[in-house]
Amino acid sequence: MGPYIEISDTYAGYALSYFCVPKHYEEDLENILIPSGIIQDRIERLARDIFQDVKDEPLTTVCVLKGGYRFCTDLVDKITTLNRYHGSVSVPVNVDFIRLKSYENDSSTGDIQVIGGDNLKGLKGQNVLVVEDIIDTGRTMEKLLAILKENEPKTIRVASLLVKRRPGSTGYRPDYCGFEIPNKFVVGYALDYNEYFRDLNHICVINENGKKKYAVA
Ligand code: IMP
Repeated sequence: MGPYIEISDTYAGYALSYFCVPKHYEEDLENILIPSGIIQDRIERLARDIFQDVKDEPLTTVCVLKGGYRFCTDLVDKITTLNRYHGSVSVPVNVDFIRLKSYENDSSTGDIQVIGGDNLKGLKGQNVLVVEDIIDTGRTMEKLLAILKENEPKTIRVASLLVKRRPGSTGYRPDYCGFEIPNKFVVGYALDYNEYFRDLNHICVINENGKKKYAVA
């Protein structure tokens, strides 16, 4: 895994009052762990690292829906900006999608299913970049990589915006990682809790009130 920003277990984040948070979530969040501006700055650097590693070869990004959609959009946007400004190097980018389901409330069900997306046969011979929001136990990514490898891509790399530090991890580490975070349930920037909070720009820690309010019975 390349360099990443490590957020310590004792880091208290920012109070909600310092930044703009939708009124409908004000009672449901503990703190702002990563403000949206820092997310963007970090993705800019990940885009540069990926651009330099891939160089002139075409890249097929596989966006893991739904949680990875914002990260994938911003990452691809930044790679294409580099394409525009670099006269001598360019990385043609394709975007594919895959939809998985593994979570209910705040814990992994352990039952990971592919429930939609592009035809994976098209990945044969491609340089694939899997774009994921968060690695928690690592089980989802290990299962997904096994499925993708059956389709014989030329190379597979993984970019995950977040990696959670938690007991019970499989030990899986992505090639590119934005931030390593404490073992807390985070929402925002397309990360959800039972489909809520995707419409929040910052990455925040959910509180007990939010977990209760949006729990699936
Ligand atoms: P894993 O299989 O335990 O690594 O789980 C990975 C998936 O769980 C991610 O793609 C997310 O969809 C979901 N997930 C894990 N932790 C969080 C979290 O803190 N917030 C939101 N979703 C999470």
